[in-house]
Amino acid sequence: MRVSSIVAGLALASSAVASPTFGWGKKHRDSLYKSMKKSGRSFIGTALTLRDEPREDEIVDANFNAFTPENSMKWESTEPSQNNFTFDDADRYAAYAKKNHLQVHCHTLVWHSQLPAWVSEGGFDNKTLIGVMENHIKKVMTRYASVCTRWDVLNEALNENGTYRDTVWLRTIGEAYIPIAFRLAKKYNRGHAKLYYNDYNLEYNEEKTAGAARIVKLIKSYGGCIDGVGYQAHLASESTPTAPGPAPDQATLEAALHATADLGVDVAYTEIDVRMNTPPSAEQLQVQSDTYNRIAKSCLAVRKCVGMTVWGISDKYSWIPGVFEGEGAALLWNEDYEKKPAYYGFLKGIKAKKWGWWWW
Ligand code: G3I
Repeated sequence: MRVSSIVAGLALASSAVASPTFGWGKKHRDSLYKSMKKSGRSFIGTALTLRDEPREDEIVDANFNAFTPENSMKWESTEPSQNNFTFDDADRYAAYAKKNHLQVHCHTLVWHSQLPAWVSEGGFDNKTLIGVMENHIKKVMTRYASVCTRWDVLNEALNENGTYRDTVWLRTIGEAYIPIAFRLAKKYNRGHAKLYYNDYNLEYNEEKTAGAARIVKLIKSYGGCIDGVGYQAHLASESTPTAPGPAPDQATLEAALHATADLGVDVAYTEIDVRMNTPPSAEQLQVQSDTYNRIAKSCLAVRKCVGMTVWGISDKYSWIPGVFEGEGAALLWNEDYEKKPAYYGFLKGIKAKKWGWWWW
């Protein structure tokens, strides 16, 4: 690590933001990265799928100090059959992080999706499934102990009404699977990763946000450790067939962040994208820009909001059009890797916060 990054790290470590500050060593002008660094928060990141697109490397280098591997650390990628661990793909991301001095938001350990059938349909009893969970957490966390800045220990465990999602974990183990997952994550956390619960629609659905707060309290009531809650922020700038619009106002976003931050954990936007009906008009792109602007402002208005991750770089590769037909254009760069109005709205939102770390 360069001296400048160590100095920056020390300066930021004195702030009230209780989260790692690694990765702020680079010097680029007028990027998301540079502005976020000034804000005193821990990270600005992107979801990353390594592909043959040199423009993506340039964009990551100029704008981000963190990334989330989009798919490579999920269970189906790392343990496709029982106790057969396949780390080749995830290792590429670990190497990329080290080479480029980037934080990694590691994603994800316990989830119902992208979970191989040998787990979800294995018919394991309670004790055996806990053993399966422990083996997975142990092997994956230990392998990436020197890489992961944060870990999504548990992903998307809630229904929209705040009750627990019906998954193999809940059906077999009961709600105790949640504190058990966090206890195991702490046990095998050989590095310094912050341990997160991560979910979507927490930004405006009060019932679901209350569910996330309940999860934080549950883990703590078992004597466990949870460091943060990830607000995915898969939002829509207008009403679409699959989402209500417009996206929440700033007060709603801040209130949602406070709902768990006030319990003493960090919060972060972990998977931001703002979709719309496509193809977009200039007016739609401006509404999207305003949305990105207030997402950024809401994070920077909440002291415990440690960073933000956008869920991909270019609209060319976003997951949205493939899942929600007729929707998309959700990211900061268009399909030709040109900055969209959303980029400038997001940047302006980050810059709206004055230098913060020294007055906290
Ligand atoms: O890699 C295979 C390829 O070999 C195969 O030919 C192809 C055929 O469909 O599929 C490829 O896998 C796809 C994978 O992305 C990698 O591209 C899967 O089908 C596809 O389902 C998978 O989608 C991912 C999705 O999670 C799965 O749930 C998206 O890329 C990823 O952006 C998305 O991310 C999730 C977060 O993890 C959790 N929060 C919601 C978010 C958006 O859905």
